[in-house]
Amino acid sequence: MCGIVGYTGKRAAMPVLISGLKKLEYRGYDSAGIAVTSDDGILIRKQSGKVAGLAEIVEQEDGMLAEAHTGIAHTRWATHGPPTTLNAHPHEGNEGRVVLVHNGIIENHNDLRNRFKAQGHTFKSDTDSEVLAHLVESHYQGDLLEAVTAALKEVEGTYGITCMAKDEPGVLVVARSGSPIVIGLGDDETIVASDASAIITYTRQAIYLDDNDIARIEGSKVDIRSLDKGAVSRTPSEIDWSPGAAEKGGYEHYMLKEIFEQPEAISNTIRGRIDLNRGTAILSGLNLSPRELVAIQRLLIVGCGTSMNAGLIGEYAVEDFAAIPAEVEQAAEFRYRNPIVGSRDMVLAISQSGETADTLAAVREAVEKGSLVAALVNVVGSTIARETSRGIYLHAGPEISVASTKAFTSQVSTLLMIALKFARAHRLSREQGIKIAKEIERIPELVEAVLKTNDQISEVAAHYAHYNNAFFIGRGYMYPVALEGALKLKEISYIHAEGYHAAELKHGPIALLEESMPVIALLNEGPGQEKTLSNVAECKARSAPVLGVITEGDEEARAACDHVIEIPSCPQYSSVVPAAVALQLLSYHIARIRGCAIDQPRNLAKSVTVE
Ligand code: AGP
Repeated sequence: MCGIVGYTGKRAAMPVLISGLKKLEYRGYDSAGIAVTSDDGILIRKQSGKVAGLAEIVEQEDGMLAEAHTGIAHTRWATHGPPTTLNAHPHEGNEGRVVLVHNGIIENHNDLRNRFKAQGHTFKSDTDSEVLAHLVESHYQGDLLEAVTAALKEVEGTYGITCMAKDEPGVLVVARSGSPIVIGLGDDETIVASDASAIITYTRQAIYLDDNDIARIEGSKVDIRSLDKGAVSRTPSEIDWSPGAAEKGGYEHYMLKEIFEQPEAISNTIRGRIDLNRGTAILSGLNLSPRELVAIQRLLIVGCGTSMNAGLIGEYAVEDFAAIPAEVEQAAEFRYRNPIVGSRDMVLAISQSGETADTLAAVREAVEKGSLVAALVNVVGSTIARETSRGIYLHAGPEISVASTKAFTSQVSTLLMIALKFARAHRLSREQGIKIAKEIERIPELVEAVLKTNDQISEVAAHYAHYNNAFFIGRGYMYPVALEGALKLKEISYIHAEGYHAAELKHGPIALLEESMPVIALLNEGPGQEKTLSNVAECKARSAPVLGVITEGDEEARAACDHVIEIPSCPQYSSVVPAAVALQLLSYHIARIRGCAIDQPRNLAKSVTVE
């Protein structure tokens, strides 16, 4: 949830650190800071506000800040203490001999703070991270690796850290438990970061640290050990993102770029995974034979936010195609309610980042309960991906905008393939499987068709941008789409939007309907559409403006609404994707018209790595 960058090597560190922070700013952006070491000691610059403000200061300085070859930097999403300059990272120990940046939560920070206060330490900030800096320094006797190792053995909580010591210029020590750290391996240089987007400019060879790993880095020399197992070897992997992939590519916002990337992203997700001959999906990452698949009696899907909404579509598809029970649970709820799961169940964790703390905790609980556990993740090498022995990577490419779009539609496409695979191990015939497989392969072209109506959607958005409330309603597969559409509008336009089952409106919420309460209705063809048409009539009868997402050419549905967005004709199970894309564009344009910070909405972060 914060962005960390570290550098040591042949280049001047400051430009590498600042450009890295800019790439990671989507992870948190309420304050930022940088520290460098050289033979002249440690220099720190930090302030509240975005990275651009910090860059303005440091890029004007010469001397040590411009010449140092080793440094660390941080962009923050506040968890302990408000986003002030004093709370910004880097933080130093009591005597200023050690400095570090931290992502995560030190749960025993109060006890440690009290211990050090009793020893006469003074603290400058309210943060748990500063306490960690004091702890490392309290163990420092000239070897930073040993000091960090000793300190982390006293820590309870999560961390991704990068540390430096005044007496060891040129050396970085990094460690992780619960918050990601990637090490980029260069020629006479090494760059570390919270994720690969800050690294690919310099190298594609990366090592993803495991929990409890700690590494000493000097120039291009990287020594990794485990806190509990001693020396370990970690195999570098190739970062397959193109350099431009993590840039905006000419779009005004990352969100719009990622919306328009969806045909390609979904094609990448599907590629090599549809077998039109056998009418099934090829998901080798699940590592399950048909015999093992058919033995699974229930599928439990866990996730948060948009990933949970995708899971709901997966629930509908698995029960619809395979007729086996499936259910979705909010990951934190699953983790804390002592879930009833066992060896005949499969728990599927969905997470774009692969770092969401609640979802990671749910995975660990499911493992404890003896169920099969698999993950649906976008970020290669992420914690959830590495803690599950079965899984499917989305291959959707980096999703930078805080609001998830292409990851959602790639998740849904993958869930349709999972449902198909389960179904073919049960009662679905080869012919029926081929039919579904062909419809899944059509999804990218369905999305292309909606993207072509972007200008019309922008015009429709102008009629809805001034409202402060909205309902999204749908039935069947469209109910989770209504939930996701409402989440998108909420998180980027700050309009209070609620997703409701269309049939539920008359059980209370209809009391809110009036001309200032628009209703966005998922009215495209499918089971229950005529009932939703009746619900729309009930809305119109109470003066509520209605925007309908309809199947192209459906004149009855068009006549029932004040405005429409048309999507191509297709089965309801695949229409969820073009319908979702229509609502992504609607929310995007409403937020753009309202002048909102679309890629970095207030209070949000791309990956919520705290519970
Ligand atoms: C989606 O637009 C939100 N940014 C948020 O709900 C997100 O889906 C949620 O935090 C889960 O993130 P994950 O998929 O990385 O686990």
